[in-house]
Amino acid sequence: MTKNKKLLAWVDEVAKMTQPDKIHWCDGSEEENNMLIEGYVASGVFTPIPKRPNSYWVVSDPKDVARVEDRTFICSEKEIDAGPTNHWMAPVEMKKILTGLFTGCMKGRTMYVIPFSMGPLGSNISHIGIEITDSPYVVINMRIMTRMGKAVLDVLGEDGHFVPCLHSIGYPLTDGKKDVAWPCNETKYISHFPEERAIWSYGSGYGGNALLGKKCFALRIASVLAHDEGWLAEHMLILGITPPNGEKKYIAAAFPSACGKTNLAMLTPSIPGWKVETVGDDIAWMKFGPDGRLYAINPEYGFFGVAPGTSMKTNANAMLSCESNSIFTNVAFTDDGDVWWEGMTDEKPKHLIDWNKNEWTPESGKLSAHPNSRFTAPAKQCPVIDAAWEDPKGVPISAFLFGGRRESFVPLVNESFDWNHGVYMGSACASETTAAAAGAVGALRHDPFAMLPFCGYNMGDYFGHWIQIGRMSTQDKLPKIFFVNWFRKNEKGKFIWPGYGDNIRALKWIIERVNGTGKFFETPIGRLPAEGALDIEGLNISADDLKKLFTINKETGLAEVAEMREYYKKFGDRLPKELATELDKIEERLKK
Ligand code: GTP
Ligand code: SPV
Ligand code: MN
Repeated sequence: MTKNKKLLAWVDEVAKMTQPDKIHWCDGSEEENNMLIEGYVASGVFTPIPKRPNSYWVVSDPKDVARVEDRTFICSEKEIDAGPTNHWMAPVEMKKILTGLFTGCMKGRTMYVIPFSMGPLGSNISHIGIEITDSPYVVINMRIMTRMGKAVLDVLGEDGHFVPCLHSIGYPLTDGKKDVAWPCNETKYISHFPEERAIWSYGSGYGGNALLGKKCFALRIASVLAHDEGWLAEHMLILGITPPNGEKKYIAAAFPSACGKTNLAMLTPSIPGWKVETVGDDIAWMKFGPDGRLYAINPEYGFFGVAPGTSMKTNANAMLSCESNSIFTNVAFTDDGDVWWEGMTDEKPKHLIDWNKNEWTPESGKLSAHPNSRFTAPAKQCPVIDAAWEDPKGVPISAFLFGGRRESFVPLVNESFDWNHGVYMGSACASETTAAAAGAVGALRHDPFAMLPFCGYNMGDYFGHWIQIGRMSTQDKLPKIFFVNWFRKNEKGKFIWPGYGDNIRALKWIIERVNGTGKFFETPIGRLPAEGALDIEGLNISADDLKKLFTINKETGLAEVAEMREYYKKFGDRLPKELATELDKIEERLKK
């Protein structure tokens, strides 16, 4: 398969440790994929979905349903380099624990070697990884989420570099132990070695814990590479937006997990004449081009999208993307041979098999799909996939958006005064937690740049890196920075803003600001649309509600400043002084 000496040595070393029955080098072919799928169908793990060609329904262990942030570690040589927002363990200590756990952990199983490329094959922005796993589910999903197989080994060649990504579900079949439908282990470690640029993940088969190209590599390890090499690896969607005048622009937006990236990336505009096209829905890698502008690629090849809430009304393009060749994990199954989840249709089915494989009726009083149930779908199946989505040069970014779920205070859309103020906005991202991570849902927590669970180094240094990026070009060439919030609620606890396709109204103002035409007024916290500048034609919203979306309460503002000041203390001398200055300036403006 390969003559790459480092790779052969690593595979050999891992096999000696994990002791699998067999080693399978993945070529990425259809035959290989069919063989794995047939195995799962025969054992009842996968259920074919009659209504969706080449698509399968699978449910996980009820205890293995989301990313496990408290089991995620950044094992830098020095603790301070992991910073105050990451869990840390010394690399030597972590390797000792992991070597113990990985020894013999693949007994009775096949070890799969998955060569994959994050980014278009052969692009100089792309990076190659090799995932070793004992989970066929991971192989099948990695084939959708990344460019995977033999072609990657060809590009890697004899001495090419790769990031080693070692994964095991931690369920060896020893002493006649029988396999289960979703093998995993109560003990979980999602470990990153930033200096070595290596990943070891143990005990979980789900999502970002197991598909190591995504969060582990394309964000945690890549953020370290980006810091060292002067580029950006971000938890951002990338979209192309074409106004009626045809002048297309690209935007990248960072929202925390399950806060609307997939939805914004492929939105169906509610105002006529506007078009949105998708480059990526979760991760952006960006480098400066020779013209001083930032160019973004989507390192992924598929979508691992949140199912609940996705419908033909809210996100038709996501629905159409997963009509075939897709895997559905932890959703419900209908009597007429399709999948279903909360929010897919207005009317609930009368009977389902739920994500625990139990009978379900609307009277059950339970959710039929897990809140973090997801579809894995090939990006090329998205009806509005952008023509440039595989362009190795990337697309030039005109605006960055930050956002999160905020019930109060944060306006619908707000433009920063300049780059450093925009970096402040990114650092000040906070959001009510969602089901994408294990733990409580709905609690407000800081999630700077939507990177809290994904930054592979000290978050204070990461803030500094963003400040530094601003020095690498000029204000006119750098993207303008905005803060958005689709999730403000009224006294009755209802969302004020209709969201989804109507978010184009905020995007329209943003594009007008990029062009320098959009009317605005200055507030202490940024520039908001002037009266009449937000296109609300045809929108059913009361003047009172609209006003609420743009009300800035000074007391609340000052309380936020005080809270941010306290939060910044966490970062000690790693906090760039520019951010402390921005905070002072906001306070001054609020007190005026
Ligand atoms: P990750 O894949 O976890 O990174 O999430 P994401 O940011 O891509 O989130 P996604 O677009 O999948 O949205 C998550 C949930 O938020 C879904 O249930 C959506 O229906 C809901 N949502 C998305 N956009 C909006 C919006 O504009 N308004 C409201 N009210 N809900 C939204
Ligand atoms: C997220 O949680 O932000 C995701 C899903 O995109 S996972 O790949 O599981 O991290
Ligand atoms: Mn994500």
